[in-house]
Amino acid sequence: MPARRPDSAGRPTRRRILLAAGGVALAAGAGWGGNWLVAYNRHERSNVGELDFRNPLRIPELLDPQASDDGARRYELELAPGTSEFLPGKKTATWGANGPYLAPTLRMRDGDPVAPTVRNKLPEPTTLHWHGMHLPPAMDGGPHQMVAADEVWRPRWTVHQPASTLWYHPHPHGSTGHHVYRGVAGMIIVDDEVSDRSGLPSTYGVDDIPLVLQDKNFHDDGSLDFTESTLGDTLAAVDSLGLLGDTILVNGTHNPHFEVTTERVRLRLLNGSNARVYELGFPGDKTFHLAATENGLLKRPRPLTRLRLAPGERAEIVVSFTAGEKALLRSFPPDLKVGFPTRRFAGGDDTFDLLELRAGRSLRPSSPLPTRIDGAPADIPLPADPRTRRFTFVGTQVNDRSMDMRRVDDVVPAGATEIWEIERGDGTVHVFHLHGATFNVLEVDGEKPPAHMRGPKDTVYLPGTTTVRLAVRFDTLTDERVPYMYHCHVLRHEDDGMMGQFLVVAPGREDKVSRTLDAPGAHGGSHH
Ligand code: C2O
Ligand code: CU
Ligand code: CU
Repeated sequence: MPARRPDSAGRPTRRRILLAAGGVALAAGAGWGGNWLVAYNRHERSNVGELDFRNPLRIPELLDPQASDDGARRYELELAPGTSEFLPGKKTATWGANGPYLAPTLRMRDGDPVAPTVRNKLPEPTTLHWHGMHLPPAMDGGPHQMVAADEVWRPRWTVHQPASTLWYHPHPHGSTGHHVYRGVAGMIIVDDEVSDRSGLPSTYGVDDIPLVLQDKNFHDDGSLDFTESTLGDTLAAVDSLGLLGDTILVNGTHNPHFEVTTERVRLRLLNGSNARVYELGFPGDKTFHLAATENGLLKRPRPLTRLRLAPGERAEIVVSFTAGEKALLRSFPPDLKVGFPTRRFAGGDDTFDLLELRAGRSLRPSSPLPTRIDGAPADIPLPADPRTRRFTFVGTQVNDRSMDMRRVDDVVPAGATEIWEIERGDGTVHVFHLHGATFNVLEVDGEKPPAHMRGPKDTVYLPGTTTVRLAVRFDTLTDERVPYMYHCHVLRHEDDGMMGQFLVVAPGREDKVSRTLDAPGAHGGSHH
C-alpha cells in the first residue's frame, strides 16, 4: 500500500515552479514594493563584531543518579516558570526544569532501567519527549502523554541503544514551539562500552561539553519576543518558519566563552532552535572531527571544516587546541538549498558568532584522536525487498494531510527495515524527524551523501526540492493503541500539523489494528 496518493504525483513540481518564479512578483502584485525590499534587507542578520564573549558558558547540571532499590535510575525533573538574566540588567521570564531555563543533562547507560519523575509546575499542560530514544510509545512523551498542570508523570523504560547524544523537550500538540522557546529542553548522554573504550574526551563540563544552540528575539525590556513572520500572508510561502531570532544563546548564555583546559574537547552540539539552521565552523577553517551523529558514534571520525545542523539535529565533534589558542565557533550562512528570496527569510544569509573557546597556557594531555571507533554502529543492513513508503512535505502538511491525533497514518511491523523516501515538495525549509527508530541516509537527490551525513540519525535536513532516501530500522517495542510520531522539526510547521502517527505492531497484525485512536488523553507511565 503506497502511502503516497496517486493524484499528488505532479503537484510538487508545479508548486516548485510557482515558488521559483519568486515571491517578488507576488510581492509586487500585492503592492509590497518598497516594503518588501526593506524587509528583505533587514533579514540579513549577523552579530559578528558585536560580542566580547565576556560570560562564562553555563554548563547544565548533570543528573547521573545511582540505581535505586528497585534497580532503576531516578531522574527528578520539575518543570516550572522562572526568571533569567540573559542580557545585562534585563530580566526575562522563562521556563525550565530544576532551574529557570533549560534542563539538566541526563546521563544514562545502555541496559539501564530508568525512571524519570516529571512534575509539571508550569501554568499549562505539557509533555516531555525523549527525542532519539528507543522506548515504548507510551513512554515517549509525545502529544498523547499529556501531563496536566500540577500533575506528575512517571514513565519507565530500559535503555537499549548505543552511545549517543539525545535530548528532551515538550511535545504538546500545537504548542511545542512555545514550550521549547520558553526554555524547556535538556540533553541526554547515553554511554556504553564502545564509548567507554573510544578514547573520546568524556569528563562532563571539563572536556565533554554540551552546547545547546538557540536563537531568540528579545523586547527592549528583556522579555522574550514571540512575534513570528513579519511579512504577512502574501509572503507566507517564503517566510513560514515562525521564530527566527537575532540573538544567540548557548546553554542559555549570551555572549559566552569557555576556558579550555585540555588538548582536546568533545562538543556535544544540539540545535535546540525552533527553526534556525546553523552551519558550524571556525574562521580560518580550523579542522574539527565529527565523532557522532544523532543516534550514535561513527566508525571513523571525519575531519570537517563545516557542519550543517538543522533543528533537532545533534553532533559530537572533537576540537584540538594548542596552548593559548583562541577559537571562535561561528555559524556561517548555511547552505539551505532554497532559492531566492526564501533563502534570506529562512536565515540563509545569516552569520553568528556562537562561542569563544579559550585555551589555557598549559593544557592537560588528552588521548589521541581515535581514527576508528571499534564497535560503533554498523550501517543498517537492507533486506532483499524492503518496503518503501513515500512522504511529501509541502507547506504544513505531509502527504496532503494535517496531523490528526485520532488517525493512524502508518502501521509498521516490529523490527522491520524499510525505505522511507521523504520529498520536500515546496521551496522552503523542512526537517524530517521520526520517533523510536534510527535511520541511515542512503541518497539525497539520487546521490549518495558524504559519509558523515549517512548517520546513524533520527533527524535530517531536507535539502532542495528533492527526495531524501532513508533506510529506517524500526524497534521491536509494539503497541496497538499508542503511536509514535514523524514530523517536521521546524516547530511552527509541526505545531501547524506537519506531523503523522505510526503504530509499530507485531508482524502480521498490520491490517488487523484499528486506524482510529481514542480521544487523546494520558497514556503510559503512572500519573497522579
Ligand atoms: Cu524533537 Cu517529535 O521531536
Ligand atoms: Cu523525537
Ligand atoms: Cu517544515
